[in-house]
Amino acid sequence: MNLSFLFLLLSIPVVLAYFFGLYILGSLGQVVGYYLRRASRTRKELLLARVQTEQRAYASTHPKRAPANDEDGWEEVEGYAAGTAANGAKAGEDWKGIIGFFHPFCNAGGGGERVLWAAIRANQKRWPDAVCVVYTGDHDVDKAAILKRVENRFNIHLHPPTVHFLYLSTRRYVLSSTWPHFTLLGQSLGSLILAYDAFSLLVPDIFIDTMGYAFALALSSFLFPAVPTGAYVHYPTISTDMLASLSPNGQGVNAGAGVGWKGFAKRHYWSLFARLYCLVGSTVDVVMTNSTWTQSHIRSLWGPRRARRLRSAKASETDIDVVFPPVAVEELTDAIDVSPESESKRGPTIIYIAQFRPEKNHTLIIEAFAKLVAQHNAFPSFPNTPPKLVLVGSVRDSDDATRVYNLRLLAHERKIKEKVEFVCDASWPQILYWLQCASVGVNGMWNEHFGIGVVEYQAAGLISVVNDSGGPKLDIVVEIDGEPTGNMQPMNHQVFEVPSFHASTVEEYASAFANALSLSSAETSAMRLRARKSALRFTDRGFAEKWVKNMERMVQLQELRTRKPGGFLTMIEI
Ligand SMILES: *[C@@H]1O[C@H](CO)[C@@H](O)[C@H](O)[C@H]1NC(C)=O
Ligand SMILES: *[C@@H]1O[C@H](CO)[C@@H](O)[C@H](O)[C@H]1NC(C)=O
Ligand SMILES: *[C@@H]1O[C@H](CO)[C@@H](O)[C@H](O)[C@H]1NC(C)=O
Repeated sequence: MNLSFLFLLLSIPVVLAYFFGLYILGSLGQVVGYYLRRASRTRKELLLARVQTEQRAYASTHPKRAPANDEDGWEEVEGYAAGTAANGAKAGEDWKGIIGFFHPFCNAGGGGERVLWAAIRANQKRWPDAVCVVYTGDHDVDKAAILKRVENRFNIHLHPPTVHFLYLSTRRYVLSSTWPHFTLLGQSLGSLILAYDAFSLLVPDIFIDTMGYAFALALSSFLFPAVPTGAYVHYPTISTDMLASLSPNGQGVNAGAGVGWKGFAKRHYWSLFARLYCLVGSTVDVVMTNSTWTQSHIRSLWGPRRARRLRSAKASETDIDVVFPPVAVEELTDAIDVSPESESKRGPTIIYIAQFRPEKNHTLIIEAFAKLVAQHNAFPSFPNTPPKLVLVGSVRDSDDATRVYNLRLLAHERKIKEKVEFVCDASWPQILYWLQCASVGVNGMWNEHFGIGVVEYQAAGLISVVNDSGGPKLDIVVEIDGEPTGNMQPMNHQVFEVPSFHASTVEEYASAFANALSLSSAETSAMRLRARKSALRFTDRGFAEKWVKNMERMVQLQELRTRKPGGFLTMIEI
């Protein structure tokens, strides 16, 4: 008998033990899940009863009125969200489960919170009978206060009876101050504790994380395999850039930190963490990202394992969806007219809306403008008006003021002083005025993750000239590079085919300005309309439609998994 046969014989029990171990572990998770579910059952019943009572109370104090005078806009609801369900099965039309949102800092009032509230509103409109529960650590505020703030801060009106808050008591474990060393790992472990805290309060039917706690989602899948999970990722917890930056010739804050034994340890710690993060990410059922940049990073981290899990390479390419966060585009489209008539109001004006911060590179823009003026006195479409540059921005402190002073000096040196206008700390009506009179909007920053200002230019119908990098390149001023996301609207393809409007250097900016100002009036109008159409991808409505589409996948999964019990113990669980 040869050795390899013996080896084979011996390895069989090892392999069996491995799978048995996995099985035991998986079952253990489900047993714990079962007890958590049982322990929180009473709370769940109480919650649902409370929803019923509040619904009745709401209905009696808010009799159905005509949509026009309904101040919270609740009745106009169904309209758009319901439309997206039409393309397919009627599944989940009147789904009434509990959707848990894991958002420990829900009262922070930042961009991430805007996404949370807009998502809850979209859910409420699509599934009026479902209940949205937010797990939060903000003990100092009650529901009324939170909803009031959401209205004031974001102008988002939620339907109070079907949104509820559950208060977590272990939020300190996700603060970076709790983990002075090994912060990444510490915070991730902390999020496991926090998630366990959440589940002991209530086990939802669908579990969604909007703050980047992927580990919490993995715990959910471990404990409750039947509960679909969803992630809305703003930023990857660890990025491939970070890993690369440790190499001796890397760039960024950690440049060169990869040398010596400390660097060695750090490199291994990070790559271990990255591996864990990839593992965790592969368990999430539905993944959305806020931008193409984040999508490509998440795809390179989570994609390979997800593909293996979903048993298809194609699935991994299509299943990570970009859902742009909502921007207040409508305020501009309502206020600013884009039509042949409105052209008479516009001059050869280039506008740059940006804080006077160094990375916004105002110097570059002024230099480029000086070059433009040196080469062109006037443009055929604007025979009697010389070009003008308007810099609109807030001046926050004396550093900003100094920068403005230096920029004025520069304009003076280049002999374009009277052609450059500074509008410091502009009011909203002033900004609207300039957006109406200008023809071109510019952004000089390199690798901006997202330029809300550029979306505003587009909404106002301006022709954008942006640096050839970052969010403006990937998401805003161009189609999404033909990536097979399968959910691109056709209009994405027609936005800005003219490549010269992306620029990097002074010369390129100058010639992009010249090109933009020399377009024929027909081309100009067409481009303005396309710009405006492109901006519509970033509206509340655009967000809600894509969000609901991804939610529908989770609802379908939920129905599928509870209908066909799959694993050990799921029979008793239901
Ligand atoms: C996505 O989130 C990151 C982190 O908050 C932010 O820097 C970036 O601007 C966001 N992108 C978009 C398109 O809002
Ligand atoms: C613009 O982007 C390019 C490449 O993406 C970069 O190399 C260049 O430095 C950027 N220009 C400015 C002015 O930041
Ligand atoms: C501004 O743009 C110029 C030209 O591309 C570039 O060399 C410079 O580094 C930029 N400055 C900043 C602060 O980004």
